[in-house]
Amino acid sequence: METMKRRHFLALSAAAATVSRSKAAEAETPLVSFGLTTDVQYADADPQGERHYRESIPKLKAAVEDLAKQKLPFTLHLGDMIDRDFASFAKILPLFEPLGHPVWHLLGNHDYTIADERKISVAATLGMPADHYGFTVSGVRFLMLDTNEVSTYKHPEGSKEDLEAEAAMKAMGSANNAKPWNGGTSPAQLQWLEKELAAADAAKTPVLVCGHHPLLSEAGHQAWNNRDIIKLIESHKSARAYLCGHNHAGEQVVSNGVPYLNFKSILHEPGVTAYAVVRLYQNRLVIEGRGREASREVPLREWE
Ligand SMILES: [Fe+2]
Repeated sequence: METMKRRHFLALSAAAATVSRSKAAEAETPLVSFGLTTDVQYADADPQGERHYRESIPKLKAAVEDLAKQKLPFTLHLGDMIDRDFASFAKILPLFEPLGHPVWHLLGNHDYTIADERKISVAATLGMPADHYGFTVSGVRFLMLDTNEVSTYKHPEGSKEDLEAEAAMKAMGSANNAKPWNGGTSPAQLQWLEKELAAADAAKTPVLVCGHHPLLSEAGHQAWNNRDIIKLIESHKSARAYLCGHNHAGEQVVSNGVPYLNFKSILHEPGVTAYAVVRLYQNRLVIEGRGREASREVPLREWE
């Protein structure tokens, strides 16, 4: 009898160990991994201060060669593909092709330092389905914001949208982000974001929200209506983190358990790159940085 009890106990222990091992394995398997580049900001122009425009080409080629070996499902570019001049898109976009997987883009302020008549075609040139959009990979939802929607650079000079943005910036007074290279979202885009996050909460779908402009810190690079977006992100637990570019120095801020990750631009320091492989787990993000982008682990807030 004693032996049977012992056998039963051993069998139960073995089963428990299997469950615990599979839970541990599950915790160790990323929900999704992807490549991340931002602010390539290419121009066929001489360096200006810390901005080495032509260097972006060899750096991007090397980054693509590395990322292509990682067997990733996709790569993100978080805006400012070019510095100026619409023709630069045709020089840079083919450099992503050796990845052999989709590249999902965001719009950045510099992508609009082009002739007014070209502005309508930037999103299509970047292969974006819309100026703001969502996509899902391996059960993780990516919400790609357009933080240039209300701005003084996105719309042709003198257009209704342009005049409204000029007035909105004036109304911000002496706010440190009331700058013509920053912008914000419309109320309609906020409603879209709220609807997406509410649906993701209900479906228990993890979301990474991405935008070109930072939301935090508030040192002056942040989107005009950063607090409206933060409020939505922090009130929906499906929103795991916010990823952005724009501030080339990069930054990491955590607010109410949500990491706001500003990735570094590849543009600075000749011969030194900046990009990452990002792995999202249930309870953390793992950033495998290259060059100026530091490798680190970022805890995420609890989510039942
Ligand atoms: Fe930017």
